[in-house]
Amino acid sequence: MNRTHNNCELRIENIGQTVELIGWVAKKRNLGSLVFIDLRDRYGITQIIFNESFEDALREVKSEFILQVKGKVIERSSKNPNMPTGDIEIEAESFVVVNSAKLTPMIVADETDALEETRMQYRYLDLRRPIMQQNMMMRHKIVRSIREYLDNLDFIDVETPYLNLSTPEGARDFLVPSRVHNGSCYALPQSPQLFKQLLMVSGFEKYYQIARCFRDEDLRADRQIEFTQVDVETSFLSTDQILEIGEGLIVKMMKDVKGLDIQAPFPRLTWHEAMEKYGIDKPDTRFGLELVNLNEVVSDVDFVVFKSALEAGGHVKGLNVTGQADAFSRKKIDQLTEIAKTYKAKGLAWLKVGAEGVQGPIAKFFNEAQLASLLGAMNAKDGDLLLFVGDAKYDIVCDSLAQIRNHLGKELGLYDKNQFNFLWVTDFPMFEYDDETERYYAKHHPFTRPLESDLDKLLTDRDNCLADAYDIVLNGFELGGGSQRIYEQDLQEKAFAALGFNEEQIQTQFGWFVNALQYGTPPHGGFALGLDRIAMLLAGCDSLRDVIAFPKNTSATCPMSKAPNPVSQAQFDELGIMVKPSEDK
Ligand code: AMO
Ligand code: AMP
Repeated sequence: MNRTHNNCELRIENIGQTVELIGWVAKKRNLGSLVFIDLRDRYGITQIIFNESFEDALREVKSEFILQVKGKVIERSSKNPNMPTGDIEIEAESFVVVNSAKLTPMIVADETDALEETRMQYRYLDLRRPIMQQNMMMRHKIVRSIREYLDNLDFIDVETPYLNLSTPEGARDFLVPSRVHNGSCYALPQSPQLFKQLLMVSGFEKYYQIARCFRDEDLRADRQIEFTQVDVETSFLSTDQILEIGEGLIVKMMKDVKGLDIQAPFPRLTWHEAMEKYGIDKPDTRFGLELVNLNEVVSDVDFVVFKSALEAGGHVKGLNVTGQADAFSRKKIDQLTEIAKTYKAKGLAWLKVGAEGVQGPIAKFFNEAQLASLLGAMNAKDGDLLLFVGDAKYDIVCDSLAQIRNHLGKELGLYDKNQFNFLWVTDFPMFEYDDETERYYAKHHPFTRPLESDLDKLLTDRDNCLADAYDIVLNGFELGGGSQRIYEQDLQEKAFAALGFNEEQIQTQFGWFVNALQYGTPPHGGFALGLDRIAMLLAGCDSLRDVIAFPKNTSATCPMSKAPNPVSQAQFDELGIMVKPSEDK
């Protein structure tokens, strides 16, 4: 099919040329006997003007019909400076209806009032909206830039299996039952972790893959059950060298995709510093509002909440919401208290600093000296609002204040939406203790190497054993994570033992991997970046669903195909599966 130009190409210089265009009818307007049609393709929109001779032929033409138009480029009398093609229009000489379209269930335009469920049900129409096309094209640019970068550094792209055994990244597996081996299942990869490490054993030295990963976890705005990683692994490099590769990748990508110069090296915080300052391991560093540790300062204050927290070995932390004392009524403070409670804090204590002194329900518990040292520690002045959480659990203090901090950052407009603050968070704990199951879990994954200085803590002091692991964080989101890996078989066995696996469990679950460590495994490490999250943040979207062509909704289904669907008994029979009737059937 002939076209001489796309719909974003013609300019004032083209006036007088005869051109042929193809596209969808984005808009049709009648102006007396003249008809104006905005013709859209993935590049943009061009306005076509049809004279009265086309009136009959155009009567049936509706939105989303595909037209092929031949005509002459003319100067527009009323120019539109908001459109690249806004200086010109095409005076139609002839046109063909390439295909017709039913009335669409949603408006195909950037501004749409369609519910997200409708958008997802008619995803092919949703993806026809220019804004969605731009998102997908940006995602493509990101991938292209990253591939270019890694290719230039000698990384090779190797595919790893989708059908294999479980990779323990901490989520539930998606299982694929085997027809040939009834009763046995493959697990879809939560990441290519073990295979990329085996590629290092094989001597490839520099591997990457744009890899699909599958994790059966609850969906959120920044979480899908099926997502994409930029997965990288290297041999013989120090952690600093690996981080430098990650930084180079981001710097090039930000230049290629956003035209921005990002400064490297990125700031680094240890996990402990991040928790102390921001209460979270993925801090948004575009604004201050840092947490203050008040354990010392309030140690002799006679307020039962603080006292009992400290006596239980817990913590008290505060937040100085500078200059906001007058802006926060009781009601607004109650809203903050609700946030604190959602994250398991028992309450939120507060004080307002004013000309008449310090006011608030807990002011009476402080004597003058204690108040002075509190205000000093929090750098508090007249007009400041001070917030406090105390709890026996460090995580609860951190979590609740971090969420309040993020909430305030947004509500008070403390950051510039167009700023991109990348940083590394390093030296994560190796293990995390779970009260419910009463056991330790790997904070990253069980193949992560302890810091060289903490090797001896692996079995003797799990609470304080730190890992040579790092996350890359952007504006409050975890973009990626990685680590140096264990490359000695005996150390790997120790790490499994620290997680409570016995010899037999190690052999049945990971024998195939651990055995490989015996045959000359190089020191190696790497990282994986969440491609969907990068695309979401660079496109300025609030949800991964806006940068994935065919995502799942929050109940893990596809409103378009209706997947997952019940399958036939015959299919189950072949797989040797009997389905338990659900309780409420
Ligand atoms: P990790 O589990 O931290 O590390 O994952 C790396 C990055 O993948 C993204 N991500 C997700 N994105 C969307 N939806 C999800 N459900 C989801 N889960 C993770 C995040 C995250 O930072 N094998 C290790 C990496 C390594 O050690 O090299 C791994 O998978 O952006
Ligand atoms: P109460 O004595 O329970 O009325 O609490 C007095 C104040 O302390 C209220 O403002 C509560 O929200 C607050 N508070 C209660 N528990 C905590 C806590 N764990 N940390 C901080 N403040 C709390």
